[in-house]
Amino acid sequence: MYCIDVLLEEHNRITEFIQVARNVCCNIIDGNSISLDDLNKMLSFGKVYADNLHHKKEEDILFNAMVNEVGGPAQKMINNGMLVEHNLGRLYLSELEKVLNNYNNSTQNKLQIITNLSAYCDLLERHIVKENQVAYPFGQRTLSVQTLERLDSETKQFEDNTQNDREHYLIILDELKQKYC
Ligand SMILES: [Fe+2]
Ligand SMILES: [Fe+2]
Repeated sequence: MYCIDVLLEEHNRITEFIQVARNVCCNIIDGNSISLDDLNKMLSFGKVYADNLHHKKEEDILFNAMVNEVGGPAQKMINNGMLVEHNLGRLYLSELEKVLNNYNNSTQNKLQIITNLSAYCDLLERHIVKENQVAYPFGQRTLSVQTLERLDSETKQFEDNTQNDREHYLIILDELKQKYC
């Protein structure tokens, strides 16, 4: 199914991002110099690629259909689980943004970067497993064929409208991977 294939592929890219972010945290712990520029690129990848592109697609297309058409346990899993975790991820990113905007190379600053970035990574890693193993298969099993077709075409339209952003952030991810992985 196109809609789910696109989301799964994005999980692979986000998992690569998590590896980069963890390596950057380890570099800071090891006392290596910090590239504020790269940290801002990572923040921006989280905000645009992971949130505006990936989470938005889940929320507006797949999860929206599951909540409205399946209801019951799907509604509970989405509203009390997946959406709560999306919001927690946004909180970690906004805390990271505050630190980066006021960065002064202090040990406190470094601690705040590591705390928020690695909490974001742990959260997304667990979140991705739940979606891959539970939420997506549940949606695919319970939604009607007509709805699944509609989700595919809405996803196609979303992808067409956001192609430039997606390509831009995948280039940034490649650069970060070359540097930190
Ligand atoms: Fe999600
Ligand atoms: Fe996801």
